[in-house]
Amino acid sequence: MFKLLTVVAHRGYSSEAPENTIAAFDLALRYGYSDIEFDVQLSKDGVPMVLHDELLGRTTNGLGRLDGYTYAQLKQLDAGSWFNPKFGEQRIPSLLELLARYKSKARLHIELKSTEFELAERVVQALDVSGWLQADTLIERVMSRQPKLVISSFKRTQLERSIKLLPNVAHELLVETITEESMLWASRNGIRSYHPDGKDITPEFVARAHELNLHVGAWWWTRRDQDTQQIATYGVRYAFVDEPKAHQRRLIKRPYSS
Ligand code: G3P
Ligand code: CA
Repeated sequence: MFKLLTVVAHRGYSSEAPENTIAAFDLALRYGYSDIEFDVQLSKDGVPMVLHDELLGRTTNGLGRLDGYTYAQLKQLDAGSWFNPKFGEQRIPSLLELLARYKSKARLHIELKSTEFELAERVVQALDVSGWLQADTLIERVMSRQPKLVISSFKRTQLERSIKLLPNVAHELLVETITEESMLWASRNGIRSYHPDGKDITPEFVARAHELNLHVGAWWWTRRDQDTQQIATYGVRYAFVDEPKAHQRRLIKRPYSS
């Protein structure tokens, strides 16, 4: 039986626009994909910025570590030309910019990427001042059947800090490898969803996750539509992909509802 699966635009619509930029997130929304995923790390002066790598070199014209530069310095960098010169105006977004731009328009999957002790706290401050926490009330979640905000990480300590600060927000554990130990840890520590590499997902694993009250998501990126449809039949809830349109058939692109 086919089950519902939400296609999430991984780092935005990253197959057609530079990852983790406003251009990529806007494109996802323009195509009707209201779940967007992105990565957050702190600048030298403690501002949550949206970039995947620790180093600037792959996706900007900067050099060195992101946390070696202040917000003002990072904002000078070109974050789009590496992908295509027509995106040369793109800058590294701050988390606050995204929170303001997509409030009531998108469901955010925020990955706590770096290891700083203050990262979770700075993210919570940004969510608070931008009104995202107030908006994510229980009644709204019940009405829309899904949270408007999800926080994820591969790093358990970051999730522990975040869950302590935001016990009512859904959290996702990302894993490189499926293990019983990490599933048990997730289940016992307030994690709502468990996300391995899509290629490792089997019906038995999904059944075990469901036994532990965990949803399952797949980081999946460039897989074929038929692969996504296959894991959807197992009851997988999310697939994080670079080209959401390639996975559209029979899957849902959940409209944002408030
Ligand atoms: O969906 C999970 C995925 O975002 C984790 O991998 O390396 O793209 O951040 P990465
Ligand atoms: Ca990510």
